[in-house]
Order: sequence, then C-alpha cells, then structure tokens
Amino acid sequence: MHSSQPFLTDIETIRQRARQHIEDGSITEGYTADRETIIKLLNEALATEIVCTLRYKRHFFMATGIKASVAAAEFQEHAKEEQEHADRLAARIVQLGGEPDFNPEGLITRSHAQYSEGSDLRDMIKEDLIAERIAIDSYREITQYIGDKDPTTRRIFEDILAQEEEHADDMAGLLQGLD
Ligand SMILES: [Fe+2]
Ligand SMILES: [Fe+2]
Repeated sequence: MHSSQPFLTDIETIRQRARQHIEDGSITEGYTADRETIIKLLNEALATEIVCTLRYKRHFFMATGIKASVAAAEFQEHAKEEQEHADRLAARIVQLGGEPDFNPEGLITRSHAQYSEGSDLRDMIKEDLIAERIAIDSYREITQYIGDKDPTTRRIFEDILAQEEEHADDMAGLLQGLD
C-alpha cells in the first residue's frame, strides 16, 4: 500500500523535477518564452554579427591599403564590437540550452545583413551603413517580439541595438565627411 511508504512517490517526483531543473540550468518554469524561437532568433543575429565582423575586417584592410586612416580606424573598431556582439549572443544561446551555429556554410543565408565588399571607400561605407540599418530594424523587431517573456535576452538585443545605432551614425558621419 502507498500508506506504508507515504513519501516515496513524492520524493521520486521531486527528484525527477530537480533533475529536469538541473538540465534546464537557469531556465525555470517561470520562463514563458518560446525557447526554440528565441534560440533561432539569437542564431540569426549571431550569423548577422559574424558577417558584419567579416565585412568590417575586409573594409579595414582595404581602407588601410588606400590610406583612408580615419575610416579604417572606424572599420577596425566596429569589427571588434561586432565580434563582441557575436560572443554575447553565442553565450546566451548556450545559457538557453541551445547551440550557437558557427557553421560557415549557410552563414550568409542565416544572416540578416549582407556581405558587400564595396568597390571604393565611399561604397564600403555605404554598404556598412546599409548593413547597420538592416541590423537596427531586425533587432528592434526582435526586441518587440520578446517583450516581457525573456528580459535577459531582450536586454542583450537592446544593448546591441544601441551600439548598431552608434555604428550607423558613425558611418553616416564618414559618408558626409567624404562630400
Ligand atoms: Fe553588431
Ligand atoms: Fe554594427
């Protein structure tokens, strides 16, 4: 009879739940977001950041070659910051129990922003500005989608969004400086 071992089932249930909680890490039952969707959005943003890092790297080395030192310094700084964005997104994916997708295959398809080499300095800056504007719009939409369901992920996107706005502003300034 159950009464002879009144706690047995309860303890087993509690143990099972505890095990599930451990596997979920920081994710508790109070997490109401669709985790799969959040991880997918994070991975798309990760791809975007990697593509932006590569594009700025390319532009840095090319601009250095044509002795455009002011623009080159901006490109280098942005490349570093895009890399940091990528790292933050990847860390959050793992925290949510997902896997960051660093596969070069399909990278450009997963990314929102494009990889454009640019034919000259003006073209490079223009393409960077366009990429930033794409990132700004998609990150803003992601932030709105997340709402109150996952404040930590939302804050990460908000932080990155703010920096992309600065990047866009930098590029707009460089473009004006060329005129
Ligand atoms: Fe970024
Ligand atoms: Fe950026």
